[in-house]
Amino acid sequence: MIRSVFGIIVAGLLITSCSSSPEEKNQIFEPIKTVIPQRPAGQEDVLQLTAPKLETVRVGFVGLGMRGPGAVERFTHIPGTQVVALCDVLPENVEKCQEILRKAGLPEAAAYSGDTEVFKQLCERDDIDLVYIATDWIHHVPVALYAMEHGKHAAIEVPSATSLEDIWKLIDTSERTRKHCIQLENCCYDFFELTALNMAQQGVFGEVLHVEGAYLHNLDPYWEEYWNNWRMDFNRTHRGDIYPTHGFGPVCQVLNIHRGDQLQTLVAMDTKAVNGPAHIKKTTGETVTDFKNGDETTTMIKTKNGATILLEHGVMTPRPYSRMYQVVGTKGYAGKYPVQQFCVLPEQLDRSLLPEKFDERYEVTLTNEAKDKVMEAYRSPILTKDLEETAKTVGGHGGMDFIMDYRLVYCLHNGLPLDMDVYDLAEWCCIGELSAISMDNGCVPVEIPDFTRGGQDKVKGFSYAFAE
Ligand SMILES: NC(=O)c1ccc[n+]([C@@H]2O[C@H](COP(=O)([O-])OP(=O)(O)OC[C@H]3O[C@@H](n4cnc5c(N)ncnc54)[C@H](O)[C@@H]3O)[C@@H](O)[C@H]2O)c1
Repeated sequence: MIRSVFGIIVAGLLITSCSSSPEEKNQIFEPIKTVIPQRPAGQEDVLQLTAPKLETVRVGFVGLGMRGPGAVERFTHIPGTQVVALCDVLPENVEKCQEILRKAGLPEAAAYSGDTEVFKQLCERDDIDLVYIATDWIHHVPVALYAMEHGKHAAIEVPSATSLEDIWKLIDTSERTRKHCIQLENCCYDFFELTALNMAQQGVFGEVLHVEGAYLHNLDPYWEEYWNNWRMDFNRTHRGDIYPTHGFGPVCQVLNIHRGDQLQTLVAMDTKAVNGPAHIKKTTGETVTDFKNGDETTTMIKTKNGATILLEHGVMTPRPYSRMYQVVGTKGYAGKYPVQQFCVLPEQLDRSLLPEKFDERYEVTLTNEAKDKVMEAYRSPILTKDLEETAKTVGGHGGMDFIMDYRLVYCLHNGLPLDMDVYDLAEWCCIGELSAISMDNGCVPVEIPDFTRGGQDKVKGFSYAFAE
């Protein structure tokens, strides 16, 4: 009944009181635990990891399908970077990106293509600092591990890893090599999320008690576009919230996860799978009876400090795009979907930021005009006017992709800790396998491992690093 996963799973224990009288039916399930591998002797955590300053960040890109070329393009707009090498299985994808470089008036990069192992030659070069990985999910980890083993920092698209085994490999390799291993979670850099995070940090919402995040996006028009059908194949063979990070990352930053609070337990439920197998039937004629991923998966998480998190994953059904993003505090609220809203007790904001008329006795839902003023007043410390303008011009999901890349390069230039570390990567990615374990065992609680292995309280609160 218990799925066999990385290491040993300790089955959930039913702790029953000795008496069987109805009043004393005190039954408590201990959560299922997954094995936390011991940190090898001599190895230390990479919390607040810094690396020597890089005057020029020399980049090699691996994976140039639909997502990768946008990253190459963005790097052509970031001063102090050099695109040294480009790699994709398909030579035409490399050529597409050479054209981006030519158009930007930059020299062509070294080209690698032909198979799924050729990335190794790129990683073995001695003139690259950062390997930027935008392959399908199966290839993220082998490329990142090889890159770090060969002295490069690794930046990996989402979700960077899809199994606990791979997550622990990334952690151990980053800790041993002292190389950054960052997940490219662009949604942490969207304007609304950046502002709401700053407001939460300034106490506008009081104590944040509940947050929500989601990836609700009907992928029906896109399934056939993915290389080798990798994305539908993954959904077909994996149960659980397999794409959690866009919704989860930004709200974990609000809750200061592994910087004061800690993810503790999750439970998950899914619907049956209907539209996935139907899509395969329609497009290939195949009847699939063992499709794993439910059309809708819901996960609930409890934190050590007593906050709750609701996550949803739905990529099969027609519905409006949503990452949910709800922040519920004792004194205020921010919500991004379906409409961007702030709602606060009146004393939480300066009078000049509130609407002209409101009832002092109740919470105030800000008008659009007041919301715009608040967005400006609580501008994120990383979002200078110049950066905002460039981000909006260069684009990439409205600018957030550029802000993410810009911050990554800024921190590498200045030898600073990155905004997101390998433990963020681990916490945000583990939801895939842990939610599957919960559901495969009757939706029971599953413990979320301490990926820092004892370092949860070393960093006090989420913050961005800046050069002096
Ligand atoms: N952050 C975001 O907003 C966002 C948006 C879209 C996609 N993504 C992520 O980006 C990644 C890529 O997605 P996509 O839509 O571009 O998929 P895609 O199928 O269009 O592209 C994947 C590319 O990787 C290449 N590839 C696979 N294995 C390789 C290897 N070993 N060496 C070199 N090249 C290899 C393939 O040839 C293909 O061109 C995924 O992880 C996805 O989840 C993130």
